[in-house]
Amino acid sequence: MLQKPLPIEISRLNPEDTDDRIKDARHTLREDLIILGHHYQRDEIIKWADYRGDSLRLSHLAAAHPEAKYIVFCGVHFMAESADILTTSDQVVILPNMSAGCSMADMANIAQVEDCWATLSTATDMSKVIPITYVNSTAALKAFVGRHEGACCTSSNAKRVVQWALERGDKLLFFPDQHLGRNTAVELGLHPEKDMLLWDPHKRFGSVSPEEIRAKRVLLWKGHCSVHGRFTTDQIAQARANYPGVNVIVHPECPLDVVEASDQNGSTEYIIRAISKASPGSVWAVGTEVNLVNRLAHEHPDKTIFCLDPVVCPCSTMYRVHPHYLLWVLESLVGGEIVNQVSVPIDIAADARLALDRMLLMK
Ligand code: 13P
Ligand code: SF4
Repeated sequence: MLQKPLPIEISRLNPEDTDDRIKDARHTLREDLIILGHHYQRDEIIKWADYRGDSLRLSHLAAAHPEAKYIVFCGVHFMAESADILTTSDQVVILPNMSAGCSMADMANIAQVEDCWATLSTATDMSKVIPITYVNSTAALKAFVGRHEGACCTSSNAKRVVQWALERGDKLLFFPDQHLGRNTAVELGLHPEKDMLLWDPHKRFGSVSPEEIRAKRVLLWKGHCSVHGRFTTDQIAQARANYPGVNVIVHPECPLDVVEASDQNGSTEYIIRAISKASPGSVWAVGTEVNLVNRLAHEHPDKTIFCLDPVVCPCSTMYRVHPHYLLWVLESLVGGEIVNQVSVPIDIAADARLALDRMLLMK
């Protein structure tokens, strides 16, 4: 998505003046505004968030604040889309930088998913295939899933959603993150080779045979997160060698071997909770985005907390939300102008909402 350049005057501001002006704009907008911040946002942004959370918590929060006229979403595009779908038509959702996308979400587009669905239908009865989309996907994909009796999932509830899908159908098609899909299905007792196949959207017939489609229960899309794809079992072995007794905790977007070599895995919220309640003196090697890991290290000086990957691995798109963009969208609102609104077309939003609601209602 294209982001127009900031006014020169704003882009030249120093951090102190930027903060002063964000504070003033926020004060002027008062209860008309809530700022939501995903845990991967940098410290200079997260400090302004009224609420922080993982994808699931932020979806709930967006839906729970009908009084806010403006929701400024400090995160990435698919998160702002979900917030727009879940809020009322009078509320405005704003993404400070329109180029803050998600490389994983970009790995599956609606044309590819429709093509996959049509191709699968030549091999199997599609009324028994339940589509599941990770929330890290465009609204068009969520709408597809809503229309086909499927549901969304996040990294916090993937197990429940996949279980639900397996109870309703013979098979599930999981996109766009192969790793979350595989890790979750393995947790539910399925075998990564015997029960699963990998659909490659760039290859003819997904690079699978009709026999395989008929034989497998979990059809995984060949997508991944470039940040979590960097973590390896060698890094885990190194952490264990350097720090005997270390706790290794990773996000389930990591590959299966990494998840299996770790001690725990879970969403960003899960990782935060596990480390927060751990005893003083404990040591944590964390396989997730570095802004969150550094914040945890700073907030818990009584524990040793470090990123599994010794080479810094920020999510480059999350990082695009710089304080100058936050200031620009807030001052525009104060001046009566809405910029960077994320607005999902009504027909897509209605179908996508079905998929999101099915997820949110699952207990
Ligand atoms: P969480 O839902 O765990 O916050 O994950 C979102 C995400 O994009 C992780 O890469
Ligand atoms: Fe997308 Fe990965 Fe960034 Fe999460 S960390 S927003 S999955 S690119």
